[in-house]
Amino acid sequence: MERQNNLIVRYRPGDRFIHWVVAVSFILAGLGGLAMYHPMFVPLSALFGGGPWTRASHPWIGLVVFVFFAALAIRFCRDNKLTAGDRKWLSQIGDVVANHEERLPEVGRYNAGQKVLFWVMLITLVLLLLSGLVMWYGYFALDFSLGMRRLAADVHAISAFVLIIGIIVHIYASFWVKGSVRSMTRGTVTPAWAKQHHAAWYREISKGGAA
Ligand code: HEM
Repeated sequence: MERQNNLIVRYRPGDRFIHWVVAVSFILAGLGGLAMYHPMFVPLSALFGGGPWTRASHPWIGLVVFVFFAALAIRFCRDNKLTAGDRKWLSQIGDVVANHEERLPEVGRYNAGQKVLFWVMLITLVLLLLSGLVMWYGYFALDFSLGMRRLAADVHAISAFVLIIGIIVHIYASFWVKGSVRSMTRGTVTPAWAKQHHAAWYREISKGGAA
């Protein structure tokens, strides 16, 4: 277990750097996307220097989100595999919301809620990339049928909606579970946090595995 002044290292600097690039670029892509989606959000385009710059920058910012998220996903996908214990955890969602962690199955590096959200992020980002590429066709001198472009626009909007809701839940949960945000800002967690929220992970790393 990697320790720093009696704290457990949960994320190394490289992981944190990638995560925060994803977070900032995701917010920018979301704001630009909303500005183009509905007249109500048009004022947001001022953040990017007006309508044309919003349209021109959005696909590139989206690519940054995808590429950096892919790097994060490669690092973390092994820890997000769903297990039988996770299904039990999900079936006891009432205990999760009521903060009865003692009644839940022991959690590994991530709980089932985090794992489901991880796969939602991955699937929606792949759909956003594919549908985005269809709508970016002019840049590649490609031609897709009108039906195809309409379908891409619908897939893009629905995936973005699901992902935005997912990220709101992700941010809420990271502040709700006290001591989580520091894992992504400073890289470390307290042993008490690890024991309480990720007991199986704590036991595993205490045996001498890498954090
Ligand atoms: C301001 C925005 C955000 C905040 C405050 C935030 C906070 C956090 C925190 C505290 C963790 C560590 C949780 C733990 O180790 O238990 C985490 C992990 C993670 N975050 Fe974020 N995050 C934000 C945005 C995003 C965005 C936009 C994405 C992706 C589109 C994302 C993807 C992830 C992933 C994949 C993990 C690892 C968890 C896993 O693999 O299941 N985050 N985040």
